[in-house]
Amino acid sequence: MAIKKVGVLGLGTMGHGIAQVAAASGFEVIATDATDEFMKKGLARIEKNLGRLVEKEKIDAAKRDEILGRIKGGGVKDFGDADLIVEAVTEAIEVKKKVFGLLNDVAKPGAILASNTSSISITLLSSVVKEPENFVGMHFFNPVPVMKLVEIISGLQTSADAAQVATEFAQSLGKTTIAVKDSAGFAVNRLLIPMINEAFCALDEGVASAEEIDQAMQLGCNHPMGPLTLADFVGLDVTLNALSVLYNDLGSDKYAPSQLLRKYVEAGRLGRKTGRGVYDYSK
Ligand SMILES: NC(=O)c1ccc[n+]([C@@H]2O[C@H](COP(=O)([O-])OP(=O)(O)OC[C@H]3O[C@@H](n4cnc5c(N)ncnc54)[C@H](O)[C@@H]3O)[C@@H](O)[C@H]2O)c1
Repeated sequence: MAIKKVGVLGLGTMGHGIAQVAAASGFEVIATDATDEFMKKGLARIEKNLGRLVEKEKIDAAKRDEILGRIKGGGVKDFGDADLIVEAVTEAIEVKKKVFGLLNDVAKPGAILASNTSSISITLLSSVVKEPENFVGMHFFNPVPVMKLVEIISGLQTSADAAQVATEFAQSLGKTTIAVKDSAGFAVNRLLIPMINEAFCALDEGVASAEEIDQAMQLGCNHPMGPLTLADFVGLDVTLNALSVLYNDLGSDKYAPSQLLRKYVEAGRLGRKTGRGVYDYSK
């Protein structure tokens, strides 16, 4: 199936980036959010990002206008001629089920429906759509224009054709794809989140200071950022939630969240977004 038009549901952190890279790669984009105000905010973020690229002389003003010209805001009702729809709404099962329920009345037969969920089962989400064989996980990374990977997740009922269309679409955005089973954390978070958890355990046990634990992984393993700094970026609440998914779904104590991580979350020290997590960002 040739993809010409892409729908993006939810224009938050991830959705606005997905809409931007799709339009920059030549696709027509129809995008929406929960309210008109949120939609306008998301579209304004794209305009700002592209403006920055113009300032840095990575693209010229004509290119910016051409890309913006391919992105239209609308409502779910306007998604009827989209060939592929990426859902990037809030990470809550009920919110996602509601959105896919609305799409059931609108999406054209054969349209590929993709979810950018980080932690919800693709098989579970596919159970609410009319054509579960056309439902697939497309897990982009933040920030979308920068990060090169997309995990393509096939649920129990995803057809090989749908996974192939999603794979080719992601590659046409300049991304590298990996095919992943529908299993908690997929591949990246299955590896990354336990490593961050272990960093909190090590900090709690006094193995080294926070700065030294971060340096250990930066200088000893060539990671661009230490695990505790990364946790502050991602959000300690988001990290704890991802760990809880691994712990509950995979049923092994090796994913049991660190007590220190729990305490930080209880204290409201959620990372950069609250001004304090492992580190203090208030100044
Ligand atoms: N932030 C990340 O680093 C990251 C990385 C990979 C995947 N994800 C996944 O991407 C998805 C979106 O995450 P995010 O970080 O962009 O969240 P976000 O909170 O920044 O954005 C979510 C957007 O969805 C909108 N929304 C809520 N209900 C809606 C509805 N009924 N219809 C339309 N829009 C609605 C919200 O208004 C908001 O703009 C989640 O499933 C998350 O797990 C996030």
